[in-house]
Amino acid sequence: MLYRKLGKTGEMVSILGYGCMRLPVIDGNPESIDEKKAIRLVRYAIDHGVNYIDSAYSYHSGMNEVFLGKALKDGYREKVHLATKLSCKRVNCKEDMDRFLNEQLEKLRTDCIDFYLLHAVKQSYWEKMKKFGVIDFLERARAAGKIKYTGFSFHDEPDVFKEVVDAYPWDLCQIQFNYLDENFQAGIEGLKYAAEKGLAVVIMEPLRGGNLASKVPEEAKKVWDIAEVKRTPAEWAFRYLWDYPEISVVLSGMSEMEHLKENLRIAEQGQPNSLSAEEKSLISEVSEIYRSRIKVNCTNCKYCMPCPSGVNIPRNLSYLNDVFMLDDMENAKFQYGVLLLPEEKAGNCIECGECEEVCPQNIKIRKMLKEVREKFE
Ligand SMILES: NC(=O)c1ccc[n+]([C@@H]2O[C@H](COP(=O)([O-])OP(=O)(O)OC[C@H]3O[C@@H](n4cnc5c(N)ncnc54)[C@H](OP(=O)(O)O)[C@@H]3O)[C@@H](O)[C@H]2O)c1
Repeated sequence: MLYRKLGKTGEMVSILGYGCMRLPVIDGNPESIDEKKAIRLVRYAIDHGVNYIDSAYSYHSGMNEVFLGKALKDGYREKVHLATKLSCKRVNCKEDMDRFLNEQLEKLRTDCIDFYLLHAVKQSYWEKMKKFGVIDFLERARAAGKIKYTGFSFHDEPDVFKEVVDAYPWDLCQIQFNYLDENFQAGIEGLKYAAEKGLAVVIMEPLRGGNLASKVPEEAKKVWDIAEVKRTPAEWAFRYLWDYPEISVVLSGMSEMEHLKENLRIAEQGQPNSLSAEEKSLISEVSEIYRSRIKVNCTNCKYCMPCPSGVNIPRNLSYLNDVFMLDDMENAKFQYGVLLLPEEKAGNCIECGECEEVCPQNIKIRKMLKEVREKFE
């Protein structure tokens, strides 16, 4: 494992961090983490050098932190930097912030959270959190020794990003970044801005929720095939990120041991400024291919779930993407037909729009579900 300095904190962190949002669950139930499997994964990662663990109040309907409290027993807590997030969505008054933090400390079975982030900051959440005195809250929490470093994760436009960066001497920020998202949300502009201002940068969705590794269009495979050095699609995506010296940690959400082992292997090579001009040009080519094909920017983060009328939004959007990404209408239609329960199908959408309020990608979900219906029903 390679390590990099986490900005001005001076902490040395593994370049691969464990994103716990996608830990394995039982029977598709987000609250039921498959503890046996998940503990094996998390501890295997730590035993092989990972020392940055990312959680959030809302992951697995509140059960992620409870799980980590157990997984990090037996000496594992002391081996890692633990990051978790305050749910901006759920904070409805000043007192909520202290209440959530105390609950999180208890769930995580720890006295101090190393990195405490505001979760999924966007303009409206930022205005709300400022109104409730979030900076004062963070200062108090730090003085009380309940948190060590502060930061925020982000999903909005670059101008909002800069405003938040400039509002407080944060230690770190967490942004969505990968070779498709250079000009999306904070993007490359945000990455450079944060680094200039002394914030460490942690990356989320490095594989665009897995899409850059598992749904590779034939055209893109051909580009990877002509590369002199043979790498897996995941490897190209990670190496692209670690090439930036401004990036400290790349989080990956892994629920399969095979993926964890592969990513640990790739991380051994993740030196900054290590890709050649030719390699970067191949990555740009593949990025263009994806851009021309992706229909909907869903990363399967499931922030839109549960849908009040039972629609499985990410799965519907994933089948829609398959039609364009993989040129496979037949298979997408078949999967939509047999793998979704009747209530999970797009046709069940009542257009309440709750999902659109929380989607970090700002997807026009209602419109897309209509398209799913038109295509598959
Ligand atoms: N703060 C926020 O707003 C926010 C939003 C999103 C994410 N996050 C955090 O950032 C973390 C990372 O984001 P992410 O989970 O979207 O990461 P990601 O790496 O882009 O996507 C994870 C997906 O990629 C697959 N994958 C991982 N390694 C692979 C490999 N070598 N080959 C093929 N597939 C592979 C995983 O599959 P398997 O599960 O099958 O292993 C999983 O489905 C999250 O887990 C979460 O902790 C935060």
